Amino acid sequence: MLTVNINSANPAEIGTALLVVALVENPTLAGIAALDTATGGVLTRTIEMKDFRGARDEMLHLTGVLRGPRRLLLVGMGTVPDRRAAFRRAATLAARTAQRLGVGEMVWYAGQITPEETESISIGLIAGAWEYADLKSELPEAERRKPLERATILTSNTDDSRRGLADGVAIGEGQSLARKLAMMPGNLCTPEYLAQTASDIARRLGMGITVLGRRELEAEKMGSFLAVAQGTPQDPKLIVLEYKGGKPGAKPVTLVGKGLCFDTGGISIKPAQRMEFMKFDMCGAAAVLGTFEAIGRMKPEINVVGIIGATTNMPSGTAMNPGDVVRSHIGKTIEIINTDAEGRLVLADLLSYARRYEPDVVIDAATLTGACVIALGHTATGVFSSDDAISAEILAAGKRAGEPGWPLPLWDDYKELIKSDVADVKNSGGRPAGAVTAAMFLKEFVAGYPWIHLDIAGTAYSETDLVTIPKGPTGVPTGTFIEFIRGRVR
Ligand code: BES
Ligand code: MN
Ligand code: ZN
Repeated sequence: MLTVNINSANPAEIGTALLVVALVENPTLAGIAALDTATGGVLTRTIEMKDFRGARDEMLHLTGVLRGPRRLLLVGMGTVPDRRAAFRRAATLAARTAQRLGVGEMVWYAGQITPEETESISIGLIAGAWEYADLKSELPEAERRKPLERATILTSNTDDSRRGLADGVAIGEGQSLARKLAMMPGNLCTPEYLAQTASDIARRLGMGITVLGRRELEAEKMGSFLAVAQGTPQDPKLIVLEYKGGKPGAKPVTLVGKGLCFDTGGISIKPAQRMEFMKFDMCGAAAVLGTFEAIGRMKPEINVVGIIGATTNMPSGTAMNPGDVVRSHIGKTIEIINTDAEGRLVLADLLSYARRYEPDVVIDAATLTGACVIALGHTATGVFSSDDAISAEILAAGKRAGEPGWPLPLWDDYKELIKSDVADVKNSGGRPAGAVTAAMFLKEFVAGYPWIHLDIAGTAYSETDLVTIPKGPTGVPTGTFIEFIRGRVR
């Protein structure tokens, strides 16, 4: 785990194994003249020879610096249309590189920075240092590299930056938790484990927690959630976290997360090719937990409820079958056309259950459809809402967090596609507009509150290295959730 500090030391004088200097495109010596002198003019020479031009993501690692810090890492930020985004990205890259180098400790310098920029840098450093190595055996002594344990951000206004640092660490830790839970394989990150993680957050950070198991779900008549869970002997868990930072009785922002610890597809089984990625089918739930980790530390003045539906979608002698009809929590009947459209079955009952918290708004996040990956790739989260103001609010929050979203329609014209011959609605509309019909299905179970749905099937994890983020989980939409909540406090 990375500890981030701030320090007002002069970069020319600080002793470190790795000094990172973030520079804009076509850099000048402004702000780094003292460092240049202290290192015997190495920066002047490097810039003059155009060995480093400051393009976005460009990195130059100078080793064996004769005077001053032993190693220098120059990181480019390009033309910097958005300073906070540029700092976050460069810091992520720098920490990733420091982690790879095995230097154990690093110092970040980028001239004058604001407290908000200190926050962005901290978030980036923590993201870059993140790795999941719990299941790897330790390497022999000679091959071992020092994990990155400490990072120091240089800033002249340390007093004002404390808050920025603390918030950045809270957000960074929240995102790291989400990524860890996502990365954990399905045999370890079970519904039980998600419930334990939620209990730990609640106890440590002082929140309310409720966990319902199969028996309680039966008593609640959650026929839709239970249909998915009937294929597994594992106890399904409906997990509720309650953070009360606002006025008593003030309506909570309510976050709902899909928590499929593994999705085989059930009887409508998925092809074997890349099925292992379906351990990521709980990324919505992971983001809810990551958000509570962050807000529990930041203590914003607002009430927030988190609801997670955790289970595993399995083919078995007790599994649901195509053609089955079940009665959902809200009372509507559902014809199950495809058992692989299980996320919407779980969410249907969570959205209905959410009513008892009298939400100010409900935001659900789910790795819901392959169709959303086809529509938007791994770049943008699919955003669905009938409420334009809330849609704009979430798009802005995602932008601030560096987690872009893009709106898709929720028009009644699409309702035709999920009409059933035997029940009120069917759980699959086939391939056309698959992300939209999944969202239309969810809409059937929303009542009495403004609602917005995030399809994170493409953005919650990546199958390739994304420069700043290695292949695997991204933490999306933890940052979006946190920024949305902060936006409501301001
Ligand atoms: N978890 C999947 C969606 C998914 C697919 C997420 C690929 C990430 C990558 C979901 O439960 C699912 O299987 N959806 C089906 C729905 C279909 C049967 C209507 C899909 O997208 O194919
Ligand atoms: Mn599925
Ligand atoms: Zn799924």
